[in-house]
Amino acid sequence: MLYQGGVSRSIVMGISVQNLTHIYNYKLPWEFKALDSISFSVEDGEGFAVLGGAGSGKSTLAQHVNGLLFPTSGKVIVNGTTVKPGVNLLELRKTVGMVFQYPEAQLFGETVFEEVAFGLRNLGFSEEVVESQVQEALNLVGFMPSAIRHRNPLLLSGGEKRKVALAGIIAMKSSILVLDEPTSGLDIRSKKEVLTFLKEYRKANKAIIIYITHSLEEALSICERGIILSEGKQVYQGDLPEYFIKNEDWKYLNIEPPINRGIALTLKEKGLKINDRIITRLELIKEIEKCFKTIKT
Ligand SMILES: Nc1ncnc2c1ncn2[C@@H]1O[C@H](COP(=O)(O)OP(=O)(O)OP(=O)(O)O)[C@@H](O)[C@H]1O
Ligand SMILES: [Mg+2]
Repeated sequence: MLYQGGVSRSIVMGISVQNLTHIYNYKLPWEFKALDSISFSVEDGEGFAVLGGAGSGKSTLAQHVNGLLFPTSGKVIVNGTTVKPGVNLLELRKTVGMVFQYPEAQLFGETVFEEVAFGLRNLGFSEEVVESQVQEALNLVGFMPSAIRHRNPLLLSGGEKRKVALAGIIAMKSSILVLDEPTSGLDIRSKKEVLTFLKEYRKANKAIIIYITHSLEEALSICERGIILSEGKQVYQGDLPEYFIKNEDWKYLNIEPPINRGIALTLKEKGLKINDRIITRLELIKEIEKCFKTIKT
């Protein structure tokens, strides 16, 4: 802890969520507890998944990291600063870039260029720097900058809007990305491109990625650890493959089933000598290849 004029300020970087409870419409007859005592921490450079079915509280949790919502009780600390009313939101949002679940809610620029440039201009960068960083960010998310820069962001498809929102936070080089189902609406190629890009971005910038999804397979392509929510409660927190290998109760959580694990276990039942820790498609393909090699030799 660092003491500054009597105020204790943690110098620990990363995210710490401590007993976070969020009640919508608190103290009104129709109040609703969307998050119930959630605790976890994420260190610099980590990918952390938030998994859960519809209505489990994923988006509510995400919005606490960049100060769109404040806890009813408990704490959210980002790079040592507690996110609470009165916090410097501009400063916080420089650090925490968020792609909303419904990106239309965050797009307002007249052109894609203006949209992606907005944050950089706010930070006072010269037009020359803005131009080159916007171009780079558009390229990185898989757009041809010259073809997209003049288009109206609100008239793009859902998937394109998500990519523009992503380009906006990448251009700012945010060190924490909070991505709320960022691949929904993307075609297979764009999905792959975005996931590959996020992995590289995380590594190159030692960035934190909070990745919200219904899909375990997608989560595992960029995160090692994560949290599983159900009806606002924390069902599990930690190493994700371990949970799915050891438990069966995910079946009741409304998460996309780990299909490849199911196939691996069926093949094992049928007598194939297959590793029973398989979770992802890639692991399954490698394991099947290994089995066939053993059969040939
Ligand atoms: N502004 C609000 N006022 C009252 N209740 C809300 C509000 N926003 C969300 N909720 C409720 O809180 C719960 C959690 O919502 P949230 O949007 O966080 O779920 P989610 O896990 O992101 O779901 P999805 O997968 O459908 O996006 C839901 O039951 C929802 O109805
Ligand atoms: Mg949501």
